[in-house]
Amino acid sequence: ESSATVLILWAVTGYGLGSVPFGLVVTRAFGLGNLRQIGSGNIGTTNVLRTGSKAAAALTLLLDGGKGAAAVLLARFLAAEDAAQMAGLMAFLGHCFPVWLGFKGGKGVATFLGLLLALAWPVGIACCLTWLTAAAASRISSMGALVSALAAPVWAFGLGYQPVIALAVLLAVIVLVRHSANIARLRAGTEPRIGQK
Ligand code: G3P
Repeated sequence: ESSATVLILWAVTGYGLGSVPFGLVVTRAFGLGNLRQIGSGNIGTTNVLRTGSKAAAALTLLLDGGKGAAAVLLARFLAAEDAAQMAGLMAFLGHCFPVWLGFKGGKGVATFLGLLLALAWPVGIACCLTWLTAAAASRISSMGALVSALAAPVWAFGLGYQPVIALAVLLAVIVLVRHSANIARLRAGTEPRIGQK
């Protein structure tokens, strides 16, 4: 088990990694305009796709997922499993609430999938497949997000990853709260399909 100091160190490192808003960075680098004024205004992959650039969206997904995975793997390698959980959670919170953007960040989906892949890869893969299935069936990205987030604790339990169940519950709750505007649009039947503006 890690000392409090080590945990705090990995909390800060995880937050720092997670708080890099790759969606904004990538769209700016690709010269695609201000993401905040496009679609939902969100900084994530789904909204980057609304710029029309699949390459920018794919890169955002890779980097936003990668920062969650990197936080976990670095902490596991240099410290221990409790530090890895802390770093992953804080990377997710860093993405959702980055100090650099006045705490107005993203919805955490790519980062949550990335950190789960690194923490407990079977759970991560199950969640990715759940996202793909729900998103393909509905053609709605936020539907994939909501179903896969809710499924995460169930997969953690079902696949025997007891130590990540509590974390998965917490991630699911925050993903749900971050999608409140999407949930309202889903209920109203106005949530856009994947690729729509
Ligand atoms: O991961 C975010 C996605 O679930 C919804 O994104 O831009 O449609 O609000 P957006």
